[in-house]
Amino acid sequence: MNKNKYEILLLEKRRYNLKETISFREKYKLWRDYPIQKIIGYIEMANVKIKVNKKVLIPRYETEELILLAIKLIKENGKYHNILDLCCGSGFIGIALKKAFPSLNILQSDISNAAIKQTLINLKINNLKNNVIKSNMFHNIYQKFDVIISNPPYLLKNDKKNMTKSVLKYEPQKALFAQEEGMFFYYQIEKNLSKYLNKNGLIILEINPVNYKWFIDNKYHVINDINNKKRFAYKFFNQF
Ligand SMILES: C[S@@+](CC[C@H](N)C(=O)[O-])C[C@H]1O[C@@H](n2cnc3c(N)ncnc32)[C@H](O)[C@@H]1O
Repeated sequence: MNKNKYEILLLEKRRYNLKETISFREKYKLWRDYPIQKIIGYIEMANVKIKVNKKVLIPRYETEELILLAIKLIKENGKYHNILDLCCGSGFIGIALKKAFPSLNILQSDISNAAIKQTLINLKINNLKNNVIKSNMFHNIYQKFDVIISNPPYLLKNDKKNMTKSVLKYEPQKALFAQEEGMFFYYQIEKNLSKYLNKNGLIILEINPVNYKWFIDNKYHVINDINNKKRFAYKFFNQF
């Protein structure tokens, strides 16, 4: 058994003010590489509580940074009315934005039934209301938005060799990997921007650092994450 996993679980328990013990059942789960966050059952970041079950991606710290960047840009503009959180997974992004901006209308969409269910559960837990729909990218979306935000799948099959067993065994592959060298979903988004984004609107994305050049070539501002990786890209409609 990897002792380090015990320490990480205990640290997480301390973070959430839970009893700092590890049960036999939890030891077994750790031995099976079950993710720490799923043992705890939820995460708390960006001012919201997000439950995570088997079939949705566990929100990452990078995505909290994406949310903070979005909050800053939305505040600076001050005139946005609606937001699309595309590929919403657990609902983390759209829920945290609703918490930050209660008067904004937010639509959250995902192709996965589990993601839709989890987003609805998480909205309820946080006592917030957004519209949530099942949609393969833009297929069931019929309106324009002031802001489109997305953290779509962006890993390359090649990235598998650097990933932990925990991620590979317990996180949905559909949430992680994308065709076309990790760019498939960004190509879809880019070609639909003028159809779904209002004039002066904002598109803001979490990206795979290996692909950052494409975003610069397409007039995005690219921003580093806390680990100095080129992780976020955004641009305004009038800039393309
Ligand atoms: C990287 S996860 C992001 C989840 C969440 N937004 C977050 O940041 O924690 C990507 C999400 O994209 C969804 N997805 C994959 N293919 C999709 C498609 N064709 N249309 C819509 N959503 C899709 C997955 O179900 C998954 O929930």
